Amino acid sequence: MTSDKPTKVLEEDHHFIQKVVGAMAVLAETLEAGKEVEKKTLHDIVEFMRIFADKCHHGKEETHLFPALEKKGVPMRGCPLGILIAEHQKGRDFVKQLAEATDSYANGNASAREALLKSLHGLTDLYPNHIWKEEYLAFPMADKILSSEEQRDLSEKFEMVEKEIGLDVHQRFEQFAKELEEKTGAS
Ligand SMILES: [Fe+2]
Ligand SMILES: [Fe+2]
Repeated sequence: MTSDKPTKVLEEDHHFIQKVVGAMAVLAETLEAGKEVEKKTLHDIVEFMRIFADKCHHGKEETHLFPALEKKGVPMRGCPLGILIAEHQKGRDFVKQLAEATDSYANGNASAREALLKSLHGLTDLYPNHIWKEEYLAFPMADKILSSEEQRDLSEKFEMVEKEIGLDVHQRFEQFAKELEEKTGAS
């Protein structure tokens, strides 16, 4: 059993997602300056966004937090939950585009830079705003309407999500985010 509040666990994930999003902004600037970026870094970012940000983090929100809020009478449609879910989908679409553009860039396709920039900008525009909505609207609401017992239950479910993915995998992605931020000087 964990003592961390479930929303604190999600904020901790955000902290690492923000590092990678910051690095994406630096990579976009590098491409805009006409320079090259490492293909492996782009591949690693796609993997981080698919597993850490989507499977693990969005999984905790969409599979556990949002339904817990719905049970307390918060509508799944509209503001804020419907908008947040739609933004997760938007994020998935941009990551898919980033993966395709990365493959194309790795194959030396001349038009890939433009596609890379489009998907990187899509993600760097989307995430800070999405995280703001969660941290200032959805999470304070969750802290207020979920009882201590419901919050404990949610924290246990979050731990299960982490275990399914593998605690070592989670830590590896946190380390990746830290190193990427240092490497790109995005902090
Ligand atoms: Fe989210
Ligand atoms: Fe989130």
